[in-house]
Amino acid sequence: MSAKIQDSLKHVVALAKRRGFIYGGSDLYGGFANTYSFGPYGAELKKNVKDLWWKTFVQERRDMVGLDGPILLHPKAWKASGHLDGFNDALIDCKACKGRFRCDHLIEEALEQSAEGLTVEQMTELVQSRKIKCPKCGAQDFTAARNFNLMFHTHMSKTGADGDVAYLRPETAQAIFLDFKNIVDTMRVRIPFGVAQIGKAFRNEITPGNFIFRVIEFEQMEIEYFIRESAWEKTFEEWLKAMHHWCQMIGLKSARIHEKEHPKEQLSHYSKRTVDLVYDFPFGTSELYGLAYRTDFDLKRHAEFSGQTLDYTDPETREKFVPHVIEPTFGVERTLLALLCDAYDEEQLENGEMRTVLHFHPRIAPVKVAVFPLMKKEPLAEKAMHVFKMLQTHWLCEYDESGAIGKRYRRQDELGTPYCITIDFDTLENDTVTLRDRDSMKQERVAISHLVQTLAPKLA
Ligand code: GAP
Repeated sequence: MSAKIQDSLKHVVALAKRRGFIYGGSDLYGGFANTYSFGPYGAELKKNVKDLWWKTFVQERRDMVGLDGPILLHPKAWKASGHLDGFNDALIDCKACKGRFRCDHLIEEALEQSAEGLTVEQMTELVQSRKIKCPKCGAQDFTAARNFNLMFHTHMSKTGADGDVAYLRPETAQAIFLDFKNIVDTMRVRIPFGVAQIGKAFRNEITPGNFIFRVIEFEQMEIEYFIRESAWEKTFEEWLKAMHHWCQMIGLKSARIHEKEHPKEQLSHYSKRTVDLVYDFPFGTSELYGLAYRTDFDLKRHAEFSGQTLDYTDPETREKFVPHVIEPTFGVERTLLALLCDAYDEEQLENGEMRTVLHFHPRIAPVKVAVFPLMKKEPLAEKAMHVFKMLQTHWLCEYDESGAIGKRYRRQDELGTPYCITIDFDTLENDTVTLRDRDSMKQERVAISHLVQTLAPKLA
């Protein structure tokens, strides 16, 4: 990875804050660790990503339906899913400075070897035998590693009694399994079919970090795709392709995306095969999305714990079986971080000046078009406002009449706005405007009456 990419995270973080994409959570109170707020442009970017995902995977497919399940599920569901007993990270404390670390990360950073799949006993042994030092204070004095459940919990009643505990979902997936029967009973779905959901998930991560890469509250876009067992390999490959295609659709550079197969001994408790799509983030190549073959694990466990049958009956053969599941999962925050890192650039202009630009794909860019009168005076401003109002009914647009035109371009470049329109004196003569392309910076003249039809294919 080039030094330029390595260095770019701090520039991306600074731009994200300066330009209203992402703020620190609870800034007003001095911050609240590892929470973030998506500012006006960040909220737009997020919405564009989620809308495109829904359009791609629900609206444009006949084999998919959507769901919006609750964050709080019956506590038994988390016992059934395995999260209560197995959704743990190994945690280790430095006795000298009281620093707390994720033990697998500590080992990976100190020894440059993977710690995935190791038990807490094996990790403790490794930390001691290899004399790993505390990254904070340098001491070699750790506690034993121990498991720490990542689910946040809350109480359903005011008494706060233990029996009233409920959990904030650590993945959206389980809500889909809980509604599998409702969907089969009420919708005319036939296997193979999938259920898609976008929503919040919460994880009490021990060492969150790298900006919005690992946070405690985030959004997932998940699909549970129900199949016959015999179709799993073929379906897995199809979804892997669909996930790569999605990355292209949102404009991520293919060269920065790779597949990482999970070794058998490191698979999650529910998975028979998992492939991650990893992305070359500035801090290293790390998981962007995941694709897992969850077998019939979840439906069988929920059938067992609820006492209800979760069989599917083939409408033609009347054969009954518990479907198997392929799960493509996409994190929204990681998508945004990859998009920002991918799009960020600093370019030298012909006149020697530098410009910072976000080369977002127009499909997901927060602002699509900015409209400027050449000068803040009539009748230019009135004409520009007319063009702005016309375009605003189609896309999110901005109107800007202050400062030199070059400065206004620079501001929109930093937001990733793909097109800028300037209303000048020629406009008053012939009703044409200049349309400036963010990436090539080339300008063309377009009739106002043709603007919508000229822009529509460029922004699709
Ligand atoms: N239902 C399967 C599941 O939850 P996961 O790999 O644990 O699998 C899915 O999470 C996706 O959610 C990840 O690929 C990542 O994009 C996102 N994700 C997971 N933990 C996250 C965190 N702490 N912060 C931000 N995104 C996270």
